[in-house]
Amino acid sequence: MKRQSSSPQGSGVGLLPLVPPPFDASAQLIDVSGKHAFTPPSASDARGQCPGLNALANHNYLPHNGVATIAQFVDATTKVFGMGVDLATFLSTYGAVLDGNGLSWSIKGGEHVGIGGSHGNYETDSSPLKSDLFQYGTNQKLVMSQFNKLYGMQPDASTANYNLDVLRTFRNDRFTESIEKNPLFVYGPFEGMAVSQAAFTFIYRFMANHSAEYPEGVLNKDVLKSFMSISGPENNLVWTPGYEQIPANWYRRSELDAYTIPYFETDILYFTESNPQLSLVGCNEGTVNSYQNIDAGTLSNGAYSAQDAAANPLCFALEFAQLELPGLTGLASTLLSPLLSALNSATSALKCKPIVSVNNSPLALCPGYSLYGGPTAPVAPGAIQS
Ligand code: HEM
Repeated sequence: MKRQSSSPQGSGVGLLPLVPPPFDASAQLIDVSGKHAFTPPSASDARGQCPGLNALANHNYLPHNGVATIAQFVDATTKVFGMGVDLATFLSTYGAVLDGNGLSWSIKGGEHVGIGGSHGNYETDSSPLKSDLFQYGTNQKLVMSQFNKLYGMQPDASTANYNLDVLRTFRNDRFTESIEKNPLFVYGPFEGMAVSQAAFTFIYRFMANHSAEYPEGVLNKDVLKSFMSISGPENNLVWTPGYEQIPANWYRRSELDAYTIPYFETDILYFTESNPQLSLVGCNEGTVNSYQNIDAGTLSNGAYSAQDAAANPLCFALEFAQLELPGLTGLASTLLSPLLSALNSATSALKCKPIVSVNNSPLALCPGYSLYGGPTAPVAPGAIQS
């Protein structure tokens, strides 16, 4: 499936789908009035690393306290952002099993629960704007230099569009930055190859505003700032934790152009085409600039060669993730089996080659890999902050 051309089509225009999606103003306008008016979180409301989920809770599309069931996550992300049911089901079910009680989970979390406590099995390094856990001692902070880097990539506010082309460059910058500054950087099979790419592609695919003129979406400076909870004058931008807001007059992507798992895979391939390292597992070995790749063939006990993983990174990542669940959760397979079948049906369109067993032993090379945790941790010796 080819949804976009692979070369930029001019500054500010972005990567257009080959067939522009339809635009239906009344169906795509998102209500931010009445009960969906922006309501900032109170001190007891959970808000975490994910700007999309924070915005949904701030507008009462998710429970305002930031703890929601799988069904509530699927309903809100599909209706408000146009996420495909398959992708929404996979992301929210996996989180509820791994970092919740199997039914619901927190968008903030604490030690070993919720997004904040899931470092190393869901939450990950080299995120767009949020801090690497062992570089900063927290995974909750928006690093202003990271925001400024992205923001500055489209200097002209009148034509700015943070499209996939811009995000691919930024993605590669952040990957390099984690190698250079985080001694415990890990780019894991699921968190790196799948979640980490989502954190970048979602910025344009879900936050862009849509119109009859630009049915494929444009993400300008003001909309980016609103979704990322950044405000203030250009020379003094400020981040307010947890205040992510859906802008007024914001139109989601078309229902007929839902961002599904196969669509997401085409975006991952667009990223890996520019940097093959993004389709390989790897890590720093305890010091900065000590990055090593880890062979997919060894990790999957021969099921996927490095070429197979590069050709189908999402299959490798999602197959690997499912096999990790019994070990990571300690749950018996009878308890896991309904959840595994939900995950399996979500990924069925990809027709993935199965992985029968995983071999984690090569990950012993990665001192950061065994340090599952968050939301806070000691800063690693040798970490460089900016
Ligand atoms: C059920 C659906 C979702 C789940 C389970 C989820 C989960 C997560 C997790 C675990 C992270 C941390 C990733 C990392 O460490 O890099 C994250 C980050 C992120 N999410 Fe979500 N998310 C969901 C939906 C969305 C939606 C709808 C959007 C866009 C509107 C979104 C945008 C982002 C962005 C941009 C980041 C990166 C934040 C940063 O570092 O700057 N997510 N999400």
